[in-house]
Amino acid sequence: MVSKALVRLVSAVNRRRMKLLLGIALLAYVAFYSFLLNRSIQENGELKIESKIEEIVEPLREKIRDLEKSFTQKYPPVKFLSEKDRKRILITGGAGFVGSHLTDKLMMDGHEVTVVDNFFTGRKRNVEHWIGHENFELINHDVVEPLYIEVDQIYHLASPASPPNYMYNPIKTLKTNTIGTLNMLGLAKRVGARLLLASTSEVYGDPEVHPQSEDYWGHVNPIGPRACYDEGKRVAETMCYAYMKQEGVEVRVARIFNTFGPRMHMNDGRVVSNFILQALQGEPLTVACSSRLSLTRLPFFSSDLVNGLVALMNSNVSSPVNLGNPEEHTILEFAQLIKNLVGSGSEIQFLSEAQDDPQKRKPDIKKAKLMLGWEPVVPLEEGLNKAIHYFRKELEYQANNQYIPKPKPARIKKGRTRHN
Ligand SMILES: NC(=O)c1ccc[n+]([C@@H]2O[C@H](COP(=O)([O-])OP(=O)(O)OC[C@H]3O[C@@H](n4cnc5c(N)ncnc54)[C@H](O)[C@@H]3O)[C@@H](O)[C@H]2O)c1
Repeated sequence: MVSKALVRLVSAVNRRRMKLLLGIALLAYVAFYSFLLNRSIQENGELKIESKIEEIVEPLREKIRDLEKSFTQKYPPVKFLSEKDRKRILITGGAGFVGSHLTDKLMMDGHEVTVVDNFFTGRKRNVEHWIGHENFELINHDVVEPLYIEVDQIYHLASPASPPNYMYNPIKTLKTNTIGTLNMLGLAKRVGARLLLASTSEVYGDPEVHPQSEDYWGHVNPIGPRACYDEGKRVAETMCYAYMKQEGVEVRVARIFNTFGPRMHMNDGRVVSNFILQALQGEPLTVACSSRLSLTRLPFFSSDLVNGLVALMNSNVSSPVNLGNPEEHTILEFAQLIKNLVGSGSEIQFLSEAQDDPQKRKPDIKKAKLMLGWEPVVPLEEGLNKAIHYFRKELEYQANNQYIPKPKPARIKKGRTRHN
């Protein structure tokens, strides 16, 4: 009896245990299954999100790859100069028309070039192709403030050059040419550098002798609208020779006649840019009445000027030297030539003349020929075609309201002026 009851009790207990075990197993199964289900839903979701992200990111990656490729510097070829021949050269006004071409020449010759410019009439675009190069530095600085750097040569070009630009703020033009030149001569004295001043044919004013050789003293109206520039440059020359005599600074003075070429200002206001722009835009070519039939000196091409400046800097000629084109044509012939090269049907119109505009100027370049072996060599038509191409492009950028720069990593150093 007792044993039967015992067996029943044991089997009842086992059944309950079995049920319990079964219950636990079921629960575990459900939990495991739902865990697996959740995970696969999650994984699926994640996969979907990932593929969505990939879809968006891939084109961006491709763009970055393209940008990286275009950021790979492609500088114009630069010579390698030994330590002995390589010079540290400062170009003030190096982001302007002439200065930027001079920068190109000196960089390609293998020198270390520092451009200092306040971007009054110059622009970074003119030297953008050098930004980031190990031999190149661009400093945003006004030469009216002192500058302290170590250099071997200084090409002092900083000054607005065309009448609308230098007449815009005559006092600033005077300060740039006087205080600015004093600062650069002070720097030249401190570091023992040679300084070349970019002077101008305007020091001859409205000349009474033709052609003008370097020993002509000029005929300048000291209170006229052009005086800020003409007299500013005359006193800059005086300063150069005072520093040479008193302080032993080596100076070179280039008296530059009208120059033209790519990177000239659109609003330069002088005959080449005026005629080209007018012809390209189908507007009448405007000529000052007095110059209708008068002989005019022809401008010369920027690369000729740059070669002349470098030759003068490296010569032993410390007195002023004319750099210009002695060829003569009437202004009408010149206007006609530009019309033909542009292929324009513009008419030629006569206007009243500007105050103090020199009637006639012609450089005597015997000294440059003899002492530097220099004379302009670029044929007029070849130079004009290059300038026309440049202005045509500029007008296109204007019309499309867009300029697409060559991509280069910017590394522009902000000017740091130390005052002692
Ligand atoms: N282009 C010519 O036909 C011509 C003729 C005679 C003389 N020059 C002389 O050659 C030099 C260069 O002329 P350009 O035609 O290239 O003119 P530009 O106006 O294109 O260049 C002058 C440069 O000097 C910079 N500048 C002006 N004031 C400055 C200042 N205070 N501090 C620092 N930078 C300053 C301008 O931003 C510009 O980049 C000038 O000194 C000019 O007088 C030029």
